[in-house]
Amino acid sequence: MIRALTFGMFDLLHYGHLRLLERIARLSDRLIVGLADDELAAANGKGPPFYDFDLRREMLMHTRHVDEVVRHGGPIDGHGRVRLVGEKIRLVRDLRIDLVVMGDDWRGEYDFLNEYCRVVYLTRTPGISTSEIRRRLSESCDRT
Ligand code: CTP
Repeated sequence: MIRALTFGMFDLLHYGHLRLLERIARLSDRLIVGLADDELAAANGKGPPFYDFDLRREMLMHTRHVDEVVRHGGPIDGHGRVRLVGEKIRLVRDLRIDLVVMGDDWRGEYDFLNEYCRVVYLTRTPGISTSEIRRRLSESCDRT
């Protein structure tokens, strides 16, 4: 029984997210998402998420890949990117996680968890991101 955990904001759920979740589900028996709460999502410098925590959670649970969503947040310990090292370690231990998987834009950033579980980075799907969707939508609104 392999228990996998991935972290993220998963705002405006898109095919890049779905392809990552599908690949993690294939590597594991149970996939848990540590979903950034609204405060943590806003602290990453991109403004507040479009969908609030409950809606982002609901959409993830409607995918066929995700078994459980847990809230990820806490006192912010920003070192460039907001890392919440202690909180991530606590989740990995409490949830008895075997494997943490992230897209490779995070390569190296989760290596501190190697002490507690296996850490894998998967290739990010090119050409799509929440920021890109937001940028393109606001450009098309500006044109009308
Ligand atoms: N991800 C991916 N492929 C993409 C976009 C995201 O594999 N095209 C992965 C990220 O690497 C991360 C997870 O999905 O492991 C959640 O990413 P998140 O930051 O919530 O989504 P992004 O679309 O990257 O959002 P943003 O544009 O705000 O960075």
